[in-house]
Amino acid sequence: MSKHIQQIKPVLTSILLASVAVVPMASLAAVEVTPKSAPNAAVLTGSTFTPPDPSTIPNDEFGKMVQLGRNIMFESKKYAPQYVGNSLNCVNCHTDGGAMAGSAPLWGAWVSYPAYRSKNKKVNTYEDRLQGCFRYSMNGKMPPLGSDVLVALSAYSYWLAKGLPTGDTKIAGRGYPDLPEPKQAPDFVRGQAVYEANCAICHAANGEGRVVNGTVVFPPLWGAQSFNWGAGMGSIKNAAKFIFANMPYGQSYSLTPQQAWDVAYFMDGHERPQDPRWEGSVAATRAKYHDNKNSLYGTKVNGVLLGDTGAPKPFNE
Ligand code: HEC
Ligand code: HEC
Repeated sequence: MSKHIQQIKPVLTSILLASVAVVPMASLAAVEVTPKSAPNAAVLTGSTFTPPDPSTIPNDEFGKMVQLGRNIMFESKKYAPQYVGNSLNCVNCHTDGGAMAGSAPLWGAWVSYPAYRSKNKKVNTYEDRLQGCFRYSMNGKMPPLGSDVLVALSAYSYWLAKGLPTGDTKIAGRGYPDLPEPKQAPDFVRGQAVYEANCAICHAANGEGRVVNGTVVFPPLWGAQSFNWGAGMGSIKNAAKFIFANMPYGQSYSLTPQQAWDVAYFMDGHERPQDPRWEGSVAATRAKYHDNKNSLYGTKVNGVLLGDTGAPKPFNE
């Protein structure tokens, strides 16, 4: 059992015990967590690749950078404080520190760069791609190219990908598994019902997650401490794919695809930090970066014009 799961499990157990009084037994049973025996995100991807075990990280200068990269994945703010602006850790969305197939593993990414990205309309190196994670998912600041943080994450990704063919951009297990288009258009009210029954027990009714003894045990899904409007998870499609294959935690693939789309819509239908690519108004920012059906930015959901919070706040304020 990884250290990360060891940290989560006791807290989870105490939350579950504390909730017995308020949570009906049916939903309690639904959140029982058995991370090792439950099907995980890797199961349905057809991936046959096993990344090396962390205990085999070499004990030399190179190994130190690999280990630093792994540490940044698990405890981002501790190991890269100057670049992280929220309470998320990379591992929250890249299960097992980026090792697990079906959870956007770093080994699948490593062999796929440099690559053209429509997001910024240029060929991105792997370091460019990593910079984007800090700017959007971590609502932070881009580490400079060549900085220890990017070198460490690159070294760790390279080490994880040992033996994989370079350029195999469609390798099984890369990204999040595809999800069929929903039969019914994703819906806020249906999504709210899915959320209340399957997610709120850990991520809290207000979506802000749970902090125990100063440690974020269940990460925030929206609000000031979550990813910002420029992040990949802000796309309903990415969120639905991630949620279907990874959530509820320890119960991958237990929602129907429709439920995953609905709860993704509900989650991404809430306010979060401004898109740092702010164009001066919500309408202009939507027109330039969000004009597609997978983004709710700049649309009115549940009476709120999403993204209407003014210019991005300076980093760390
Ligand atoms: C809030 C969730 C979230 C967090 C936190 C997060 N990521 Fe990601 N990451 C994603 C999503 C979603 C994608 C896929 C995005 C897309 O396709 O646009 C992604 C993609 C990536 C990719 C490219 C994967 C590929 O196969 O091309 C890399 C590399 C990556 N993230 C690294 C990181 C690192 C390093 C951190 C921490 C500094 C981090 N991410 C934090 C959600 C997250
Ligand atoms: C048993 C507790 C639990 C339940 C229930 C649960 N999650 Fe999570 N969720 C977690 C944990 C723990 C993580 C971080 C995983 C990690 O760090 O390895 C997480 C991470 C996430 C993330 C990525 C990080 C972020 O904050 O954006 C999203 C999105 C998410 N969960 C959505 C959901 C949704 C939607 C549901 C309901 C369908 C759900 N979760 C149910 C525990 C839970």
